[in-house]
Amino acid sequence: MQIVILKDAQEVARYGADIFTTQLQRKAESVLGLATGSTPVALYQELITRNKAGLINFSEASTFNLDEYLGLNGEHPQSYRYFMNEQLFNHINIDKDRTHVPPGDAKNPVVACQEYEAKIAAAGGVDIQLLGIGRNGHIGFNEPSSGLTSRTRVKTLTKATIDDNARFFTADEYQPHLSITMGIGTILDAKKVVLLATGKNKAEAVKAMVEGPLTAACPASALQLHRDAVIVVDLDAASALNDLEFYQHIEAENQKLQAYLASL
Ligand code: GLP
Repeated sequence: MQIVILKDAQEVARYGADIFTTQLQRKAESVLGLATGSTPVALYQELITRNKAGLINFSEASTFNLDEYLGLNGEHPQSYRYFMNEQLFNHINIDKDRTHVPPGDAKNPVVACQEYEAKIAAAGGVDIQLLGIGRNGHIGFNEPSSGLTSRTRVKTLTKATIDDNARFFTADEYQPHLSITMGIGTILDAKKVVLLATGKNKAEAVKAMVEGPLTAACPASALQLHRDAVIVVDLDAASALNDLEFYQHIEAENQKLQAYLASL
C-alpha cells in the first residue's frame, strides 16, 4: 500500500483529483469506480472545477458506484444515485447512460447484483476505484465479517453504520438497513484503488486497515492484498498510526523516484 499523509481534507481532495485527472488524461474511456459519503464530496467539487476549466474530460468515461440502499429508487433524495447526480454527474460532461449505480429498487435484487457484476466485466473492469472507509473499517457497504473474496450482493448494515448515516435522514424518514454493494473481491479486481480518509473519527479504522492483520473483521484491511492501493489521509486520520514518520519517509523517496523516472 502507498500511504500518503497530507495536511488536511482539502489537500486530500486535491491529491485524489490529481490521480483521477492523470487517469483520464491517459485513457479518456476510463472506467471509474465511484463512492458516496461526505469524504469524496471535496474531491468531486475539485473534479467539477477542473472539468469546467477544460482540464479534465468525462465525455468518454463510464462509472460504476460501489453501493446503493436497497429499497430506495434513484429519485429518492437519500439514494446514492441521487447523491451522485447532485454531487457530480449533473455538473460534468459525462453521458449519464454510462453512469451506473446498483439499482436500489430492483424487483429481484439477487439477479440485479449478478447483472451489475456482468456490466462491470462487459465494460472491461474498473480502472480506478475510489473508496472511503467507515468507522468500523467497512468499504462500500462491506461490513465486518464480509468475505474477503465476496462479489456484488445484498448486505445487511450494522447498527454502527445505520447510526453513522442517520445524519442524512430526517427523523420521520425511512432509513434502509439493507444495501446492494460491490463485494470486496469486486473492489480488489479494480486495477487501481484509491481510499480517502479524513478526520479524527477515522483514525482507528485507518490504523486497523494499514497496520492491523488482514481480517474480515476490518474489511478495508483486504486492500493489503492489492498491488496498487493508494491510501490518502489527512493528519487527523493518520494520527493513530504507529509508523507515521516511516510512511512519510517512504512517500518522499517515492516522489524522488517518480521525478527521476519522469526525467528519463
Ligand atoms: C457509507 C458508504 C461508504 C463510505 C462510508 C463513509 O457507509 N457506503 O462507501 O465510505 O459511508 O462515509 P463518510 O465519508 O461520510 O464518512
